[in-house]
Amino acid sequence: MILAIDTSCDETAAAVVSGTRVVSNIIWSQATLHAKWGGVFPSAAKRAHEERIDWVVDKAMKGIDPKELKAVAVTVGPGLAIALEVGITKAKQLALKYALPLIPVNHVEGHLLSPLASSSQSTDQILADFPILCFVASGGTTQLILTKAIGDYDIVAQTSDDALGEALDKAARMLGLGYPGGALLEQMAKLGSTNTYPLPVPMVGKEDRLQFSFSGLKTAMYRLVGQQGSLTKTSIYNLSAVFQDRAFKHTEKLIIKSLETYPVRQLWFSGGVAANTELRRRIRRICRAFSVSFKTPYSKKLCGDNGAMIGIAAGFKLNHGYFVAANNYDVVDRVPRARVDQLFPWEKPRAI
Ligand code: KG4
Repeated sequence: MILAIDTSCDETAAAVVSGTRVVSNIIWSQATLHAKWGGVFPSAAKRAHEERIDWVVDKAMKGIDPKELKAVAVTVGPGLAIALEVGITKAKQLALKYALPLIPVNHVEGHLLSPLASSSQSTDQILADFPILCFVASGGTTQLILTKAIGDYDIVAQTSDDALGEALDKAARMLGLGYPGGALLEQMAKLGSTNTYPLPVPMVGKEDRLQFSFSGLKTAMYRLVGQQGSLTKTSIYNLSAVFQDRAFKHTEKLIIKSLETYPVRQLWFSGGVAANTELRRRIRRICRAFSVSFKTPYSKKLCGDNGAMIGIAAGFKLNHGYFVAANNYDVVDRVPRARVDQLFPWEKPRAI
């Protein structure tokens, strides 16, 4: 079993996993704390992580004998530096206390592997299907990643400005829906119609670039909302539906282009935005057309930030020797701009 911690942004999370089986998965969300600023306020996030970290770890470990643990895992990046620090410090303390290896994990790799949670497939069966195209969409990341093996990733498309979740959050804010807005916008969009306002789909005809961009759409939405004067319930429903539709159409076009460019047998969809039923439906439809199988985390709790996904990624890293032994924890530091296709500064390439 592995105890895993994630404090990369505004969720204080700890979990225990055994391979890909989730034993416990405790998340303390700071959403209400940050709502009044309409986004994450870093020093408040740090303080809240410090206040809650022991509580989430104790709850995740409830009923588990620490002797059963094989390692302690922690997110070291990407994320907010001062927030990451809280989890790293706690993980080092616990690893030292129980004399265990420490496994530093990339947050995006955690999201990417989260569809494997409680998978009945053996690792060998999963390996047989590589390469796999993985779409990770959250508040900070929008990447299509060609996964050639676990630990071997090529980013084939990413955003040149906002992340998809961030764009949805900003649109929700323009409509006065609150923070974080992605899920609220989805609820409003269900009541509206997608052909009521003339918002453009971003980057039409430029799909060959394999680049996401949401800033033009956001600016157009800002103007459109400004033209409305006061917003009625109906206009909020319709504007939500229109914005979400255009952002998703752009996403669909890039997924189609990637599947044409990189033939794969599986597509995995993860990250906070993977909780969106409409986007899941659209991506599933594309997968059917390409005869590609579709996988997403089995519960919405595994889509947003959580410790279980970090533990699952850590299990694979432990098997491949990517851990830090007890006498060497000092090399582990936060890597706020970590990339999923790069090793951490203290890691050396190994055969997988
Ligand atoms: O993975 P996550 O919890 O944090 C990051 O690593 O960023 O993702 C949070 C993002 C937010 O932008 C939030 O609005 C979005 O995921 N999100 C959604 C939904 N639920 C959360 N976006 C669209 N539809 C949803 N149902």
